[in-house]
Amino acid sequence: MTDQYAVVGNPITHSKSPLIHTEFARQTGQDLVYDKICAPLDDFAACAIAFREMGGRGMNVTVPFKVEAFQLATRLTERARLAEAVNTLTFDGEEILGDNTDGEGLVQDILSGCGCPIAGKRVLVLGAGGATRGILLPLIAQQPAALMVVNRTAAKAEALREHVANHFAIEAGGFEAMEGRAFDLLINATSASLSATPLPLGADNFASGALAYDLAYGSEETVFMRQARVCGAAQVADGLGMLVGQAAESFKLWRGVRPDTAPVIALLRP
Ligand code: ATR
Repeated sequence: MTDQYAVVGNPITHSKSPLIHTEFARQTGQDLVYDKICAPLDDFAACAIAFREMGGRGMNVTVPFKVEAFQLATRLTERARLAEAVNTLTFDGEEILGDNTDGEGLVQDILSGCGCPIAGKRVLVLGAGGATRGILLPLIAQQPAALMVVNRTAAKAEALREHVANHFAIEAGGFEAMEGRAFDLLINATSASLSATPLPLGADNFASGALAYDLAYGSEETVFMRQARVCGAAQVADGLGMLVGQAAESFKLWRGVRPDTAPVIALLRP
């Protein structure tokens, strides 16, 4: 029987995940179907369990259910535990494995899509919300020379520093902490792009050859990407590659083969 997967969220109409996974399946010759499910806002768990009862093998989970998926999992990967959020569920008998592939999707897109190593680099992450929590451990695993997290609300960045203290000594603070500091990789994990708000970045934050990466993506460049260009970033990228990358990591977890993301990114690029 054809294996069933789905992405669950609310709203879900515009999700690109079915297209991405269907392309992955075609590319790797895997026999699966991948649907989208809009779960009621107050009934995520029942919806996920019902999908499992119907034979579903795994689910991607998107806004606003990643924390509920974290709570539903009976076993968690370390990166999901640190993220306190789950974007990938795997159903295996009674076990529900919760993983978070967002950070690895980002890392692989920076390494392969952008061609930028992270090891030994000075990395700045702007924002200290759920998106940042989801990417910190995979970034740390790349062994950057330094990792700083800055946030509008300094206390949230400082709390994240404590949260990952067992893994890496990150620097953390308000936006003023990055003043006069140069970075090789700058990652926008705030939701400021959604409201088109500029961030307090200056030319001195961009080292020679710097890559500026926005987790957000859209049909046009984000404000952060435009700011980064003006400030002298050598390369700017949006989060489309991360979207396809996190899907590829989920696919690998489910099917044991990592598809090639480049042709799928090209297919989706407006
Ligand atoms: P997500 O899951 O996308 O990370 P979140 O947990 O609500 O969403 O976090 C949003 C992040 O964007 C936070 O770091 C937030 O900063 P605060 O903690 O100070 O609220 C940041 N953010 C949102 N709008 C912003 C803006 N206009 N300027 C700067 N930072 C902003």
